[in-house]
Amino acid sequence: MKKIAILISGSGSNLEAIAKACFEQRIDGQIKCVISNVPSAFGIQRAKSFGLNAVIVDHSLFKTRDEFDNEIDHVLSKYKIDIVVLAGFMRILGKKITKKYYGKMINLHPSLLPLYPGLDTHAKVLQNRDKNHGISIHYVSSELDAGPIIAQGCISVNKNDTKNDLEKRIHSIEHKLFPKIINDICNEKIYLEDNIVKFSMDKSMQKIYEYYEV
Ligand code: GRF
Repeated sequence: MKKIAILISGSGSNLEAIAKACFEQRIDGQIKCVISNVPSAFGIQRAKSFGLNAVIVDHSLFKTRDEFDNEIDHVLSKYKIDIVVLAGFMRILGKKITKKYYGKMINLHPSLLPLYPGLDTHAKVLQNRDKNHGISIHYVSSELDAGPIIAQGCISVNKNDTKNDLEKRIHSIEHKLFPKIINDICNEKIYLEDNIVKFSMDKSMQKIYEYYEV
């Protein structure tokens, strides 16, 4: 069974969705540790409520990004992690660690990449009066929010939507799609080969991922 680490910085609602899926055996993997770079993150409480190992690696205590990354790597190595899941993890990881875990580290980003890498995606969508919004799950590369995309989920933006409305609907799609993708990675139905995402599943399933919608 694949050993999973989940990295968080905040509320951890995705962590909870993944943990639930593991305990209900909808994910064929085991969460070995949850790492938070923010000591007060609510996600730590959520991790503990599932009896998970919660490790704090407070970025503010490290002089350089490299030292912080090395400590994260140290924890991942200690738990012999196979799959690293960034679920609302708000630090940029450097070249060395992203290279080491290339193909084994995935991120959840709240936009339809390549649109809106970086922060404040909901505000940007509203500002530009976009008709659609969504989420992307991608392999992590050394460039911010730019690694190979595995799956995207789409929502329609309604005329009177606020940031809160978008956040709610984005969360609901994340909580459904992310655990499914993690399970398929655990079962090696999704993997990275020569920088290309491969799906060893039937085409109709792959299509559902590409056009996942709520
Ligand atoms: C999610 O919307 C994710 O896309 C973004 O940050 C949010 C984290 O939410 N990167 P949570 O901490 O999982 O509740």
